[in-house]
Amino acid sequence: MAGKTTISAPKGVPDYIPPASRTFVAVRDMLVAAADRAGYSPIELPVFEDTALFTRGVGESTDVVSKEMYTFTDRGDRSITLRPEGTAGVMRAVIEHGLDRGALPVKLVYEGPFFRSEAPQAGRYRQFHQVGIEAIGSDDPALDAEVIAVGHEAYRAIGLTGYRLELTSLGDAVDRPAYREKLQAFLAGLPLDEATRERAKLNPLRVLDDKRPAVQALLSDAPLMLDHLSSGSGEHFRQVLAILDRLAVPYVVNPRMVRGLDYYTRTTFEFVHPLLGAQSGLGGGGRYDGLMAELGGQPLSGIGFGLGVDRTVLAAAAEGLTVGQSARCEVYGVPMGEGASRELAVIAGRLRAAGIRVDRSYGGRGLKAAMKSADASGARIALVLGDRDLEQGTVMVKDLLSGDQHPVALDRVESAVRDILGDPTPTVPAHRPE
Ligand code: HAM
Repeated sequence: MAGKTTISAPKGVPDYIPPASRTFVAVRDMLVAAADRAGYSPIELPVFEDTALFTRGVGESTDVVSKEMYTFTDRGDRSITLRPEGTAGVMRAVIEHGLDRGALPVKLVYEGPFFRSEAPQAGRYRQFHQVGIEAIGSDDPALDAEVIAVGHEAYRAIGLTGYRLELTSLGDAVDRPAYREKLQAFLAGLPLDEATRERAKLNPLRVLDDKRPAVQALLSDAPLMLDHLSSGSGEHFRQVLAILDRLAVPYVVNPRMVRGLDYYTRTTFEFVHPLLGAQSGLGGGGRYDGLMAELGGQPLSGIGFGLGVDRTVLAAAAEGLTVGQSARCEVYGVPMGEGASRELAVIAGRLRAAGIRVDRSYGGRGLKAAMKSADASGARIALVLGDRDLEQGTVMVKDLLSGDQHPVALDRVESAVRDILGDPTPTVPAHRPE
C-alpha cells in the first residue's frame, strides 16, 4: 500500500521546535519583561481584524498594505486581514474599550504572531513574532525617550551589544506637507524612471529609501525633513536626544531613515543589527500622532515600537550568546522495572508539586540508554530506582555534575534534591485576595 504524502508548513512560515524553541521563548519573555519594568500592561488582541483597520491605519500606499496583507472574505462576506502589525489593532481596542478616557498615557505591551506575505529569506518570514509597546496620550519628549530606552534595555538584558539605534524626526502635521512639497519639487527635477516618478507623486518620502545606487547618487542633495522641522518639532526632538544622552543610550541620527508604515510623525527610530545581513531591522517604532483620530478616536498622540523576536534570536546567535536555560529539567528519573516506574511517577509528581522541574524515562530501557537520556536532558540530578531500591524504600540520588551518588530514603528525596540544587528561584504564587 502506498504511503500518504506528508504535509509541510506553508512557505516562509517557521516552526519553533526544541531545543531552539527554548531560546525563542526566553528571548520573547525578556523583551516583554523590559516593558513590564516600565509599567506597561499586557494587552492580548485578535490576530485577524477588519481589513479597513489596516488600509486606514497603516496606509494604502505602503508595501505592507498594498502587497503583503493576507486578506480574505469570511463566511459572512466580510473582508478580514491577518494582522501585519500591532499598532492599528491596539488603537482600535483602546478606542473601542474607552481606555483613552482613563488616566493617560495608556501604556500597553503585546507579543504574538504577525503576518506579511513577503518573499521569504533569512530573517524575513510570512509569520513572524513581535513584542510591541504603545504609549498613548502624552506628547512629553520624556515618553519618547522612555519607549526608546525600554527597547535598548530589552536588548541589553539579552546581552546584545552589536546593534545600532538610529533615529530621526519626521515632523508633524504642519511641517510635513511643506517639506513634502519641497521634496516633490526636487524629485520632479531628477531624471527618474516612470515608476519612481509615480512613487514620488504618491509618497515622495519612500523614494529616499530607494536602494539602487544610481538613484541614491541623484538623491545626495535631496532636502531632508530634519532640516525643515518647525521650532516645536525641532525642540521636541532635541529634548528626546538630551534625555537619551543622560541615560547613556547610544544613537546615531539618520535623517534619511524611511519606515515602512505611513502613520509615523516626529520621533522615529530603528534598531539595526549589522550582523543580520539584508534584514538588519531588529526593531523599530516612533510617534503616530494622527493615528487615533484617523481611526475615529480622539486626537491623542502616541508612540511605540515593535521588536522582531525572530531577528533578535538571530542576532543573539550571531553574537555568540546563549539565551535561556537549555536544561529541560533539573531532575531526571531512571526507573529499572515496572514497579519502579510506578513509584517514580509518584516521586516525580511530588517533586513537581514542590516546584522542581522533573522529567524521566519511560518504557523499560536499559540503564545505559536511560543515563544517556538523563545527560541529554541537561538535568543536574538523576534518580535511579531499581527493584532492590524499592524493596529497601530508597532511591539512588546521583549528582551528574560531580558523579557523587548515594541512596536516599523515599520520603527524604525532596530535601536531598534541594541540597544539591540550592535554593529555588522565588516565584510569585497565585493567591486569592483576602
Ligand atoms: P515594523 O518596522 O514594520 O514596525 O516591524 C517591527 C519589526 O518586526 C521589524 O524591525 C522586524 O524586526 C520585525 N519584522 C517585520 N517584518 C518581518 C518579517 N517579515 N519577518 C521577520 N520579522 C519581521 C511595526 O510593525 C510597527 N507596528 C512598530 C510600531 C509600534 N511602531 C509604533 N508602535
